[in-house]
Amino acid sequence: MSFVVAIDGPAGTGKGTVTEILSKKFKLVNIDTGATYRCVTLDMLNKNIGIDELDKIKDLLNKIQIEIKRENGKQLVYLNGEDVTKKIRSKEVSELVSQVSGIKEVRLSMVNLQRKMAEGKDVIMEGRDISTYVFPNADVKIYLDADLEERARRRYNQNKEKGIKMSYLEILENIKKRDENDKSKEIGALKVAMDAEVIDSTNMSIGQVVREISNIIEKKKNEIKLQKKIYKVRKETTWKKFVRKIIKVVLSTIYKIAFRVKITGSVPKDGAYIICSNHINYLDAAAIVLFNKRKVNFVAKEDLFTHGILMWLGHLFDAIPIKRNMQDIEAMKRCLKVLKNGELLGIFPEGTRKGMEKNLKAKNGAAFMAMRANVKVIPVGIHGTFKPFSKVYINYGEPMDLSEYNKEEMDKATEEIMERIVMLTKKED
Ligand code: DC
Repeated sequence: MSFVVAIDGPAGTGKGTVTEILSKKFKLVNIDTGATYRCVTLDMLNKNIGIDELDKIKDLLNKIQIEIKRENGKQLVYLNGEDVTKKIRSKEVSELVSQVSGIKEVRLSMVNLQRKMAEGKDVIMEGRDISTYVFPNADVKIYLDADLEERARRRYNQNKEKGIKMSYLEILENIKKRDENDKSKEIGALKVAMDAEVIDSTNMSIGQVVREISNIIEKKKNEIKLQKKIYKVRKETTWKKFVRKIIKVVLSTIYKIAFRVKITGSVPKDGAYIICSNHINYLDAAAIVLFNKRKVNFVAKEDLFTHGILMWLGHLFDAIPIKRNMQDIEAMKRCLKVLKNGELLGIFPEGTRKGMEKNLKAKNGAAFMAMRANVKVIPVGIHGTFKPFSKVYINYGEPMDLSEYNKEEMDKATEEIMERIVMLTKKED
């Protein structure tokens, strides 16, 4: 999967410079999307095509060849085989480009090209609509802004360095017009994406902006790395089985001493079942897993996997990480696979600790999967405080057949599971 950094913002905010530095720092392919619109504009000027000559523009778009290449450490732009890196920054192009980029056909064609340029690569792209339209799922979204006068001053200095002649006032007017145009486009208008980080660079040096964005990129990369680790399915091996056995013996002995665990009822020796229990404490899932002769693949919120030791234990016991407050299709698939393999799946229908006490509606996941995989649910009532040396009761009920319910009765099926669990929590010696 490729990694996409999107940097949007109006002209003169330093996007180009910052993007170039970041692309080198993070080894990302730099795609200057503005350059693609500039190439179309230059091609139109070269061929004397007016802004209203749509047929000619469409023909030009069919034939145009734009390439962004890196040669001797420099980013070069080629239009139909010619190096136009400097020409596309000319006054004539700058004055017309915003209007050209507003033509629907030009936009669709260039967005297509930009997506193709990024295909399968780790990229950093700067423009106006990258985080909102070209790559709305970009990993990092930045909106770089600055005051109009400051932007005009920067562009003036930049042009002077490149030998492009344009007065400060000309630039100011040009940027003002472009801002208006860019913000009012039919497709891909310049706007702040809802999930973008806004950076106002008016009083910031390039170095400061680079540092701020670098921190955001690094944070995101670490998050992705962690997500990969959390969701990695670790294969069953003899060594894993052996370590699991040892850990089970050690931890269950500690549990027996600390909580005097008392178990009634049991789980069938083989076959797929969903174990559904009440959830009163962080320690109760482990109690079910440790005192079961068979492996119970427990569904656990993904935050639990962010701690080193818990992640290790989670992978050892094949716990299934689940994203909360959304439909986690990946987790659902893994649960169904466990059942298909004839194994045990553990779920807390309450969804969170003490859900019943908090009057929360139980989740339908267990009932849904029982129906989908055509397996029975084993209700479990846990009773106790998990205070040291107090008694904890784990009461297994008879397997429940939910096949009489249909898809529309999922709530009812969940209610029945919860009722059976509640009854089992009342059992003591
Ligand atoms: O970033 P730049 O000045 O080189 O961009 C040139 C023009 O292209 C600018 O007026 C806005 C337009 N553009 C766009 O509409 N969408 C993009 N993703 C990039 C640039």
